[in-house]
Amino acid sequence: MPWLLPRQVTPEAEETLTRFLGELTERLSDPATDRRLLVREILAEVLYGTSFEELAERAPMAALALDPANVTFEAEYYAATDQEKFQRVKPLLWLWKSLDQTPLGQSIHSGVRIRAALAPFIFKRVGKNPKFFQNVEFSVGYNLELGEDVVVHRHVLLDDIGGITLMDRVSIADYANIYSHTHDVREQADVTLKHTLLGTGVRITYHATVLAGVKIGDDAMVATMAVVTRDVPPHAIVMGIPARVTRYKERPDCPYCRRGEPHPADRVARPPHRKGNPDFPEFHPPGFGVLLAKPGE
Ligand SMILES: CC(C)(COP(=O)(O)OP(=O)(O)OC[C@H]1O[C@@H](n2cnc3c(N)ncnc32)[C@H](O)[C@@H]1OP(=O)(O)O)[C@@H](O)C(=O)NCCC(=O)NCCS
Repeated sequence: MPWLLPRQVTPEAEETLTRFLGELTERLSDPATDRRLLVREILAEVLYGTSFEELAERAPMAALALDPANVTFEAEYYAATDQEKFQRVKPLLWLWKSLDQTPLGQSIHSGVRIRAALAPFIFKRVGKNPKFFQNVEFSVGYNLELGEDVVVHRHVLLDDIGGITLMDRVSIADYANIYSHTHDVREQADVTLKHTLLGTGVRITYHATVLAGVKIGDDAMVATMAVVTRDVPPHAIVMGIPARVTRYKERPDCPYCRRGEPHPADRVARPPHRKGNPDFPEFHPPGFGVLLAKPGE
């Protein structure tokens, strides 16, 4: 039974949006397009109804941050970021974030379609029909892989600096956080990048957090507010801090379980962890990981 209802806007709005998205896709598909110029032009038009040049002349402060060249992202300050890849996607991440703050971005009808049009030009891989709601945050964008029919709800954080893969039909609910980097407990600047994988049909419910390097098996579900610190088996429901399996979904029709084969998420080749900061090579000093004194002793 369908549980989502179709919604319509006026034919004029539909036509205007379709034309805008067609032109946007065409221009982004052209390797000669200067993404910086394109983005500041679109933002000046959408926010102030004028050209960027005219705005810069008339209201320089309004124009200032519409130009991606005048903006910095947190990722640009990190040694772990591939600066070349980031510079390529940065203007489009700025367009995404800036439009999120406008009526166009807050409306589901236009916002979801605009983000679906931008996604293939930002992310590492995008399957059909990506659905992003407003105010989703990324670390770098270029390290995010999406299967088909992935849904990401409001205010989700996808920290993809170490790589995140969301397989087909993953659904991430409001305010959830998915990480792919971590810090050494003694040396904050010692950052490790770890690829994080959410298998086919995984559901992350509201406000849950998945730590870096975790693999969540196909069809598993993470309960609200859980903090997932370890891999989760397929079909499991996990809850709490740290998240523990409390039960499994009954799936007698699961072909992989029936044949005793690994599930699709178990077959994804994952890159090894790597240090995000050259000052901290792969080295564990003596005593690493040893609990010297138990609390209270
Ligand atoms: C996963 C979820 C659906 C619960 O699944 P469930 O296995 O059906 O769990 P139940 O509701 O039967 O609860 C089982 C037990 O776990 C507890 N529990 C439920 N959710 C919990 C959570 N998020 N954290 C800790 N404990 C939880 C219940 O209180 C109950 O405890 P009890 O046995 O001591 O009474 C629920 O935790 C959840 O996250 N809901 C979010 C809503 C949702 O579906 N969002 C989808 C958006 S895509």
